[in-house]
Amino acid sequence: MATILGIESTCDETSASICIDGKIYSNTIATQSVHEKFGGVIPELASRAHQQNIIPTVEQAIKEAKIHKNEIDAVAFSRGPGLMGSLLVGISFAKAFALAKNIPLIEVNHMQAHILAHFIEDPKPSFPFLCLTVSGGHTQIVKVNDYFSMELIGQTIDDAAGEAFDKTAKILGLSYPGGPLIDKYAQQGNPLAFSFPEPRVPGFDFSFSGLKTSILYFVQKNTNENPNFIENNLADICASVQNRIVSILLNKLEASAFQTEIKNIAVAGGVSANSGLRNGIKQLGEKHSWNVFIPKFEYCTDNAAMIAIAGYHKFLQNDFVGQDVTPLTRWAIG
Ligand code: KG4
Ligand code: ZN
Repeated sequence: MATILGIESTCDETSASICIDGKIYSNTIATQSVHEKFGGVIPELASRAHQQNIIPTVEQAIKEAKIHKNEIDAVAFSRGPGLMGSLLVGISFAKAFALAKNIPLIEVNHMQAHILAHFIEDPKPSFPFLCLTVSGGHTQIVKVNDYFSMELIGQTIDDAAGEAFDKTAKILGLSYPGGPLIDKYAQQGNPLAFSFPEPRVPGFDFSFSGLKTSILYFVQKNTNENPNFIENNLADICASVQNRIVSILLNKLEASAFQTEIKNIAVAGGVSANSGLRNGIKQLGEKHSWNVFIPKFEYCTDNAAMIAIAGYHKFLQNDFVGQDVTPLTRWAIG
């Protein structure tokens, strides 16, 4: 039996999870609302909130899993990439817990963990598979050869897909994080009402900063002519922006699947909660006979279950780290 405590604190979610023999028994998430009014995560406020949340979150995860803390065999934590202050809180807690209980520590790469969220529940993808990881900080296409053998084959050269959603939301006066709100309004809008440019970027890389600028100019121009433009057209603007972000993502994913001849296609990260992306990838999957894998909603956004499952697979390989481990704000996936 292996009981793993997983800790996630890379950005603005404090989360703890218990995994026993590869099965998740709890996944407690404390979301920080302090950032809403700022239109983005304020790092110093994030680390302070992690400090307040970490102990109650871990206690809740242990309680929900109906175990005693002495039954935990190892602590897995997100070592990065993420915000330095936020990471420090999770790592310091993990170290202290491991030291107190005399159990090993397991470092987990947050971006690998988003992908390994596919191994929490059935159906699980078989290797090799391609994973489009889309979050607030990253946009990547990764060839996954094995649990911890991953190759980055495409990534954003500027903003991440989640940032494109969040920055658009800010332009439209919506609160942070904007992705879920844009998704919500988009469902009542016409995706073809307005047209935004598709960037030309070579290979399987992405770019979203030009799109952001074109949305900003578009909104400014129309609001000058009609101060109620956003209010009167919110659903159509959201639907059109979402349609373009999704098409940018799916066109590259389709091209990379053709080139690698891989038909096991997965999507991960916070933006994979987006209904337009989920529908789009399912449709492409039917067209090309792909096996499509989309994790359950709670395992898409930042969560500790993905850290615990990654930790479990490292535990099986006796892959531990010492008390001298330090956070990594940047950490390549492969
Ligand atoms: O993976 P995640 O929880 O955190 C990071 O590691 O960044 O991703 C957060 C991102 C945010 O940008 C948020 O706006 C976006 O995921 N997001 C969505 C949706 N739900 C979350 N974007 C579009 N549609 C959604 N339904
Ligand atoms: Zn994430």
